[in-house]
Amino acid sequence: MDANDAIGKYRHAFHLPAQQGKPVIYLTGNSLGLLPKKARDYVEQEFLDWQQYGVEGHFEAKNPWFYYHHFCESALAAIVGAQKQEVVAMGSLTANLHFLLVSFYRPAGARYKIMMEANSFPSDQYAIESQVRYHGYDPDDAIIELKPRAGEYTLRTEDILATIEVNKDSLATIIIGGVSYLTGQLMDMKAITLAGHHAGAVVGFDLAHAIGNVPLQLHDWQVDFACWCSYKYLNSGPGGVAGIFVHEQHSHKPELPRFAGWWGNAEETRFRMEKGFHPQPGAAGWQLSNAPVFPMAIHRASLELFEAAGMNQLRAKSELLTGFLEFVLRDFNLHFPDHALNIITPEDPAMRGCQLSLIATSNGKEIFNKLTKAGVFTDWREPNVIRMAPVPLHNSFEEVWRTGAVLNELMHAD
Ligand SMILES: Cc1ncc(COP(=O)(O)O)c(C=O)c1O
Repeated sequence: MDANDAIGKYRHAFHLPAQQGKPVIYLTGNSLGLLPKKARDYVEQEFLDWQQYGVEGHFEAKNPWFYYHHFCESALAAIVGAQKQEVVAMGSLTANLHFLLVSFYRPAGARYKIMMEANSFPSDQYAIESQVRYHGYDPDDAIIELKPRAGEYTLRTEDILATIEVNKDSLATIIIGGVSYLTGQLMDMKAITLAGHHAGAVVGFDLAHAIGNVPLQLHDWQVDFACWCSYKYLNSGPGGVAGIFVHEQHSHKPELPRFAGWWGNAEETRFRMEKGFHPQPGAAGWQLSNAPVFPMAIHRASLELFEAAGMNQLRAKSELLTGFLEFVLRDFNLHFPDHALNIITPEDPAMRGCQLSLIATSNGKEIFNKLTKAGVFTDWREPNVIRMAPVPLHNSFEEVWRTGAVLNELMHAD
């Protein structure tokens, strides 16, 4: 499989972390992606231009800083299935979620509720609870939590759609993780958006675990807004620049409430320093501060790899690679004497990205620690989940096989 892998060469575009001089098997690209080798040159270029031009770098730099966010647009638009105007690289994920909710969670009268998954990432929970309180509501009343059925780990689309229907008169906004950070479940974003709109709600997604992982068609699905980070599958470095999507239909609505800043003002008049905010059309109108050029330089280096490999090829390999990991885990697992690792991620490839989440019937943390010591980097999420993400850009089929072999050895050595 590795010999026939059309995108296998991209593995060499990254620095692979090592342990005692040996490259580790890095299955944690879902948490922090790897450093693209080209990133150093891209950052160096900005150092050189800063050194040479000082403030003039805004317009004189090889990649003028004034326009820097535009250099990420085409690649981001292709990755999320959007028009260029609908995306912008900016800020950080939780802050962007807040800014988007300012515009897209507008509770009023009987329509004041917001729907999310019960086990969403804590930052999303805190953000949404605080937004609800900010508007003067009680989170216990205003937040509708989607919970898996008893004895199940993932959400059924039919249950999500039914909950939307039941709450159709009170629902203001739906905000769901496109891929669950915990279970790796890929949501049916198209169906949720359609049902949400039918109910009269605004629909957005947190794509932290979806972007660069699964195919997205945000424009065609009519998603209203979305946000993401770039340090996971997009390999743009710890705390790297995040990004947002705002659907074209909200592009030309200067009246839409937002927390504004000068970088969201129309480019032509931004430096006139005049009173009165005139937002740039599109997602760019949600920017606040001038573009963080250094993290964006890293972002560009990684986005170019996505443009070269293409989401279709990445997804095709990803389905095979994750399917292979599932096979390896199940096949080896059958023989574990004392503990089992149960995969809680959906079996259907259409309902997952590359991550598999496993629950150990016992000693989960110990298994995780042993894997790390043996050079297989997975990650641990309290209280009992081991997550493994074979990432198509840099993981190989052989690594997946070796993961199973290491695990088997460790489990039997007990
Ligand atoms: C789904 C989700 N939301 C929010 C966050 C928090 O992101 P940040 O610290 O970049 O705001 C993360 C981080 O992993 C995440 O996975």
